[in-house]
Amino acid sequence: MKQRRIALGINVDHVASLRQARGTVYPDPVRAALIAEEAGADGITVHLREDRRHIQQRDVRLLRELVATKLNLEMAVTEEMITIACELGPDDVCLVPERRAELTTEGGLNVAADPARYDEAISRLARAGIRVSLFIDPDPHQVMAAATIHAPVVELHTGAYANASAESKINEINRLVLSAEKALELDLVVHAGHGLHYRNLDPVLNLPGLAELNIGHAIMARALFTGLPTAVREMRMLLDK
Ligand code: PXP
Repeated sequence: MKQRRIALGINVDHVASLRQARGTVYPDPVRAALIAEEAGADGITVHLREDRRHIQQRDVRLLRELVATKLNLEMAVTEEMITIACELGPDDVCLVPERRAELTTEGGLNVAADPARYDEAISRLARAGIRVSLFIDPDPHQVMAAATIHAPVVELHTGAYANASAESKINEINRLVLSAEKALELDLVVHAGHGLHYRNLDPVLNLPGLAELNIGHAIMARALFTGLPTAVREMRMLLDK
């Protein structure tokens, strides 16, 4: 039986964080994206935050011009971000919740609480030719809500699994599996990401129908010691195992 290939989206936000920490022009996340693509990334992911703490609009504009694989823009559901996305035209938009004080995206969207809001955003972005994914917690109710508004893709938040104690890891994997099964049953494409690294990836690779993983922090951290091409290739090898 032919093994399905899981696409690897590389998040380069952390390169921009290092640049913004000093207000320099280096290191450039655009350069990192091109190196990651050469080393085997199937796509580049960036999160343009409302507070612009790492990725800047200039980065997204250049990435749109230069990325040869696929550009995935993570963003909050705001008028400003929808306008920017429609203008710049990434291939995919992943809608995420955003709180200014958070260190990183802490939870998934509560699609079930306000489906009309996401429905409208999906329609507007789809009219601009952009495929939308909804970043949700691994909860079948959220998956069903995403299907109700015809979201083409859901990205399952793996953060709770990544942070779980050894005893609760199995529960978190079960939640991910149940949600992926529900998504497949409802004809949604399944992505996953957040908090994944070289040593916790294995159980996630078995999620039913998993089409894409988005990974950033662990790859950039390893790149400090191995260089980015090696860090990307080592992650790709784990996905292909
Ligand atoms: N997917 C989404 C929706 C995210 O918000 C992030 C973090 O920006 C990631 C994947 C990647 O997470 P990490 O940097 O922990 O690998």
